[in-house]
Amino acid sequence: MAHRIGVIGGDGIGPDVIAEGLKVIAATGVAVDTVDYDLGGARYLRDGVVLPDETIDEWRHLDALYLGAVGTPDVPPGVIERGLLLKMRFVLDLYVNHRPFLYPPSDIDFVVVRENTEGTYAGEGGFLRRGTPHEIATQGSVNTRKGVERAVRYAFDLAGGRRGHLTLVHKTNVLTFAGDLWERTFDEVAAEYPGVDTDYNHVDAACIHFVQAPERYDVIVTDNLFGDILTDLGGAVSGGIGLASSANLNPARTGPSMFEPVHGSAPDIAGQGVANPTAAILSGAMMLDFLGEAEAAVRIQAACADPATQVGGTEAIGDAIAARVR
Ligand code: NAD
Ligand code: IPM
Ligand code: MN
Repeated sequence: MAHRIGVIGGDGIGPDVIAEGLKVIAATGVAVDTVDYDLGGARYLRDGVVLPDETIDEWRHLDALYLGAVGTPDVPPGVIERGLLLKMRFVLDLYVNHRPFLYPPSDIDFVVVRENTEGTYAGEGGFLRRGTPHEIATQGSVNTRKGVERAVRYAFDLAGGRRGHLTLVHKTNVLTFAGDLWERTFDEVAAEYPGVDTDYNHVDAACIHFVQAPERYDVIVTDNLFGDILTDLGGAVSGGIGLASSANLNPARTGPSMFEPVHGSAPDIAGQGVANPTAAILSGAMMLDFLGEAEAAVRIQAACADPATQVGGTEAIGDAIAARVR
C-alpha cells in the first residue's frame, strides 16, 4: 500500500525544495500517494485562507505531512507562522521537534529535541492600552509538567539508543520558574535511565559550545524558543542551514507527523534556483524512516552525505541525489 502524504510546498523556496524531495522519494521506489495543499502566504494573499478546519480533518487520515516553508514578507508577521505552521504543530499534537545535525567532514553528530507545543510559542499574553504611551505587551512562557515530561522522556529514549549522553539546555539561573520545572522533571526522569549520562548547560554557554566544540553533544533537550534558535545555529555550524532537516513528531502515532526543513522560505534567494534542497530531501528521508522505510531512508542519507551531490543549484543537487538512490 502506498503511503498517503499531504504536501504543502508553501512559499518562496518551499515548493522548489519539496519538488526535489519528492523526486528523490520517487527514485527510491517507495510508493507514495501525494495530496497537494495550496497553503501559505501566497494563498492567503489571493483569498484570505490560512488553514480551514476541513483541511485539518483531512490531514488526520493521512500517514504524514511534508512541508517546504511558509511565510512571506508581504503578509504581516505571525498570520501564517502562527495560523498555519504552529497551528499544525498544536492541533496535531506534534510535541517533539527532532532536529538532527550530522556533518561527516567533522565529528558533529547530535540531535536537538525541541519541545514543540508550549513555551513562549503557546500564545499566552496580549496587549493592554495598545497604542497609548502606557501600553503593555506580555508574552508568557507556558510550561506544563506533562508537556515538559513527554519531551524529556523522548530525549532520554533517544539518547539511550545513541551514545547515552543527554544535555538539558535552559536558562535556570534567570528563568527560575520555568527552569525549575524543567530541571526537576529532567532529574526525576533521569533516575529511570541509569544508562544515560546527563549534563546541563545554560543556553548562552551552549551557543559557545555549538561554535567551538559541537562534538561534545549527543542529544540535547530544550524548550521551544531555545530550540528554535539553537537549531539555526546548529545548521550554521554543520554545513549550513541548507542541510538541516527536522521531524515534528506525534510519537504515539495517533495522527500524522510532519516533516520539514529547519529553514524558512528564504525570500532573499527565492526564484533564483540556488536554494539547497538537501534539508528538504533529508526531511523526506526522516519521513520514510518514520513510515517504516528505513532502507530507503539510509540510501537517501548516504547520497546526501556524498560531497559530489552538493554541486550546482536546486535542481542539479536534487538530480544528483536522486541518481544515487536508484
Ligand atoms: P530563512 O530560513 O528563510 O532564511 C535565513 C537565511 O538562510 C537566508 O539568507 C536564506 O537565503 C538562507 N537559506 C535558507 N534556506 C536555505 C537553503 N535551503 N539553501 C540556501 N540558503 C538558505 O529565515 P527568514 O529569512 O528569517 O524567514 C523567512 C520566512 O520564512 C519568514 O516568514 C519566516 O517566518 C518563515 N519561516 C518558515 C519556516 C517554516 O515554514 N518551517 C521556518 C523558518 C522561517
Ligand atoms: C522553525 C521556524 C518556525 C518556528 C516559525 C516559522 C514559526 O522558525 O520551524 O524553526 O519558530 O518554530
Ligand atoms: Mn526556526
